[in-house]
Amino acid sequence: MENSKLKKLLDDMSLEEKIGQMVQLSGEFFNNDDNVVTGPRKKLGISKKQVFLAGSVLNVVGAKKTHQLQEEYLKHSPHKIPLLFMSDIIYGLKTVYPIPLGMGATWNPSLIEKAYQNTAAEAYASGNQVSFAPMVDLVHDARWGRVLESTGEDPYLNSLFAASMVKGFQKDLGKNRGIASCIKHFAAYGAVESGREYNSVDMSERRLKQEYLPSYKAAVDAGVEMVMASFNTLNGIPATGNKWLLKNILREEWGFNGILISDYAAINELVAHGFAESQQQAAKLAVEATVDIDMQSSAYVNELKSLIENGLLNVEKINDAVWRVLLLKNKLGLFEDPYRGANEKIEEKSLLTPKKRQLAREVADKAIVLLKNKDDLLPLNKHSSVALIGPYADEHELLGLWAVHGDRKESVTINQAFSEVIESKHLSVAKGTNILDDRTMLKGFGLSDESIDKMLLTDTQKETEHEKAISAAKKSDVVVMAVGEHTLESGEAGSRTDITLPYQQKQLIHDIANLGKKIVLVLISGRPLVLTDVINDVDAVIEAWFPGTEGGHAIADVVFGDVNPSGRLSMTFPYNVGQEPIYYNELSTGRSVKTSKHSSRFMSRYIDAPVTPLFPFGYGLSYHRAIYSNLNVNKNKFSSDESIKATVDIENNSYYSGIETVQLYIQDMFASVVQPEKNLKAFQQIYLSAHEKRRVTFTINVEMLKFYNTNLDYIAEPGDFKLYIGKNSQDVLETNFTLLG
Ligand code: NOJ
Repeated sequence: MENSKLKKLLDDMSLEEKIGQMVQLSGEFFNNDDNVVTGPRKKLGISKKQVFLAGSVLNVVGAKKTHQLQEEYLKHSPHKIPLLFMSDIIYGLKTVYPIPLGMGATWNPSLIEKAYQNTAAEAYASGNQVSFAPMVDLVHDARWGRVLESTGEDPYLNSLFAASMVKGFQKDLGKNRGIASCIKHFAAYGAVESGREYNSVDMSERRLKQEYLPSYKAAVDAGVEMVMASFNTLNGIPATGNKWLLKNILREEWGFNGILISDYAAINELVAHGFAESQQQAAKLAVEATVDIDMQSSAYVNELKSLIENGLLNVEKINDAVWRVLLLKNKLGLFEDPYRGANEKIEEKSLLTPKKRQLAREVADKAIVLLKNKDDLLPLNKHSSVALIGPYADEHELLGLWAVHGDRKESVTINQAFSEVIESKHLSVAKGTNILDDRTMLKGFGLSDESIDKMLLTDTQKETEHEKAISAAKKSDVVVMAVGEHTLESGEAGSRTDITLPYQQKQLIHDIANLGKKIVLVLISGRPLVLTDVINDVDAVIEAWFPGTEGGHAIADVVFGDVNPSGRLSMTFPYNVGQEPIYYNELSTGRSVKTSKHSSRFMSRYIDAPVTPLFPFGYGLSYHRAIYSNLNVNKNKFSSDESIKATVDIENNSYYSGIETVQLYIQDMFASVVQPEKNLKAFQQIYLSAHEKRRVTFTINVEMLKFYNTNLDYIAEPGDFKLYIGKNSQDVLETNFTLLG
């Protein structure tokens, strides 16, 4: 539709209709049965008429369902303005990829862009038009369950992934393909205090700008259509009502013109925050902060009209918000075809195709991080006899909490995949124990006694399973133990204070280790786990994350050597939970253990644990062995209009070929604001053939040396810098250079 017609439409709409466009409700509201009338509709205090004026709907997927709902909706809409379908399609719809923390470990944004393109194709065919993804929050604290949804702790890496995910979703959006992306949660949600879900955030503006905002900005620069405000307060002001953050920074400074949506019920929660004294004030504050859509609260739907009629809110603010909503609907072509991609036949052909599964397998292969491989135990010989033991041995639950539309049954279990590789006579499988055996915790997740009973082995079954596991281990050459967190232990509202493996699984590992068998630990988790208490019991460790639909295949690929693992951690694995938050790019202190001359007690350290993590950022092993040498710069002094070339030689000292991620870090040695000990500034993934030697070249320019000074200017200061190149943030070669004034 031409903009002039769209403008006319806006002018013709009644105030109620306009307010409707600013409201989003979940799918159940649109059902007509009594349960809805007395349940959710009553709870929110809204009428059927108001429901059918709501401009968008949350989490309805499927061509048939979306088609039916749109058809019904349009019968009620006075100006036939189509409903916009938005969903949480976080890391796949039906073909589910590894969790974003796993995607981060691929260090391969262009591969991930393809994954999101495929996800957009599935979503499109299922009648969805917007996804509430990617989550681009930077994370430092593994206690927070939502680290699962993040690509990790580094601003540079996160920014690359943010842009690639947005581009993947939105490819050819205007050409009737792709879906709109909504990044979240703006801003700094990943810094919630003590890793506790929905908690507050307090940080300097400088830190916010330097570390936390770049990934959102990268997404905005990549053309993201929508932004979701976060639940948290930022320096005392809830993001949802934070005019400075949403209006001044996001819209005015960054030029974001798209739709801003609240998180679920967050406008109403401004009252619970103690920021607004009534729902009416909450609605006013959110509109003034330019939040266009109220997700699932009654604030806008019930308060905006009286605010305007009483002269407390300027109607132009409503017009601006509605205009942004109409613009997106128009861009998506909904006025011409309100059903857009929703087509049952195309949907059937588009979901979970072999090609899409193939890409999911490739991503899962590349997301796997090999953390330990003592005496090169891995890869296993396909003729060895293997005991596959553990609650994840034959478990379909490999998708993780936020794959809400995925079908567990479609995921390939580890056992299924192993059975494709080794003969059945060489494979014995035993569950050994429950994934989670803590009834109190399970009840806390809202599960009934009955459903918990169904999930858990009885005491007798446990004994039998344990015996089966022990005897399987005894008769095998090697034991692969598939263990990990329960799906409910990570993701939204999955904060934990103990981030080790569940107790009964650790027991099982110790029991098997006591048999003296070689053990390969395969970890399924939504976060970096503390592995200190099991690491010495096992010979090899594979972090597989929640690996998605093709998870079993990917694990088998790595275990049996069809794939040489190349994943590198994008988030630090702590030594113990007391170190959290722990991350590689922390600021230099006056008493660092590396440089301080004080006696050891009076240094920046713990007296009961190491100061270093178990596995640092950037870490990961491969079957090939890369040796780094000869780090050189072509000049060690340069001025801001010049650049430096840094080279390093890398030799593959093995007969495996593989992908090597060469990482470049910079440290500003002396600055007017203390800078991190290291900052990732560039990396290259190279393919090394067996015994190949390659020289890798990086260009260093002044942009890579910039930081926010005390005036919040983004500048580079002349002076000395350290340059590090290596295979992870700790294992590096180093040299120096100087930026001239
Ligand atoms: C709350 C979550 O914080 C957000 O990430 C999600 O998109 C919404 N709920 C909608 O489900």
